[in-house]
Amino acid sequence: MYNTSVLDHFLNPRNVGCLPDADGIGVIGDPDCGDYLKIYIKVQKGKLTDVKFEIFGCPAAIATSSILTELAKGKTVEEALKITDLDIIEALGGLPEPKIHCSNLGAEALHKAIQDYLAKSSKQKALQDAKKD
Ligand code: FES
Repeated sequence: MYNTSVLDHFLNPRNVGCLPDADGIGVIGDPDCGDYLKIYIKVQKGKLTDVKFEIFGCPAAIATSSILTELAKGKTVEEALKITDLDIIEALGGLPEPKIHCSNLGAEALHKAIQDYLAKSSKQKALQDAKKD
């Protein structure tokens, strides 16, 4: 049985949608159940100013993705990289044992989005440095 917090985030998911001008995008799928999650991030001055998600997934995957966006928003890139699936479960007040694995998607997709952002920004910096020379 889901607790009221999980049900709330499932029925009223926060930050659903895409960011067309995202600074980083992370995509993850679970081949066992077919769930699929895409996370978009905007980064300004080293902080995640916006986080949105699109998902094809189970109620627990929707709820964990929703709370993840709330956990990640406003964090520095370094802090957001430290968010784990356990943090997500704790923030929701727990998940039923068979649904624990659903929390893995959010943390992994967020980390991928940050890695995408870091790769893009270092490429951009290299291009700017090359133009200066
Ligand atoms: Fe696939 Fe929940 S059953 S993430």
